Amino acid sequence: MNKISIAIDGPAGAGKSTVAKIVAEKMSYIYVDTGAMYRALTYKALEENINIQNDQALADLLSNTAIELSPSKTGQLVIVDGKDITNIIREDAVTNTVSTVAAHRLVREKMVKQQKALGQAGGVVMDGRDIGTEVLPNAELKVFLVASVEVRAERRHLENIEKGYASDLEKLKKEISLRDQQDSEREVSPLRKAEDAIEIDTSFLSISEVADQIYQLANERM
Ligand code: C5P
Repeated sequence: MNKISIAIDGPAGAGKSTVAKIVAEKMSYIYVDTGAMYRALTYKALEENINIQNDQALADLLSNTAIELSPSKTGQLVIVDGKDITNIIREDAVTNTVSTVAAHRLVREKMVKQQKALGQAGGVVMDGRDIGTEVLPNAELKVFLVASVEVRAERRHLENIEKGYASDLEKLKKEISLRDQQDSEREVSPLRKAEDAIEIDTSFLSISEVADQIYQLANERM
């Protein structure tokens, strides 16, 4: 059967990675979490005290960094230079700086190049902010997931509690709104819906309902 490419974009916490993983598994496709790649670079920049305002320094750092996304039972492991950083890149230090790192032109050029290469052969579900517009502009299926800030913050909050992390709902709302604003207002490939993307509001849908919808849309395109 024909292997297609599926682009899933949307703001922070709209459920992209959770549903992307489910769809990829159902279709035996590769799953690529591009947000994890920006987070991995941010983690390394913080570790190495690189100025996160300096595009060239970050691009050079990226050239010397091996980011590996490898499938695991729980989704995807993020390995940087051989070290497993899957969990640490979800912590506040990275979450609250990643949008600054991701706004730089040279950083994005290099990341997009790597991501295009990962999606080149098709049979891929990729999630991020600019997949339908920049990384996979010819994807057979483009989905743009949205949900209200309240719903997204509430989901993160419950996730945190489940994992046993400290969590403050009001703080999460502020952080998510700020990240949305930074990602949508940046000059280089800002977060926006591709013209041919299908928008799904996930506010009142379960994860499996969203995954089923995307799976159905994918099957219609094969
Ligand atoms: O998807 P996630 O929330 O992990 O992404 C973290 C950050 O990485 C986003 O807030 C955004 O700044 C950046 N990002 C991006 N382009 C992508 C994926 C993520 O700019 N394709």
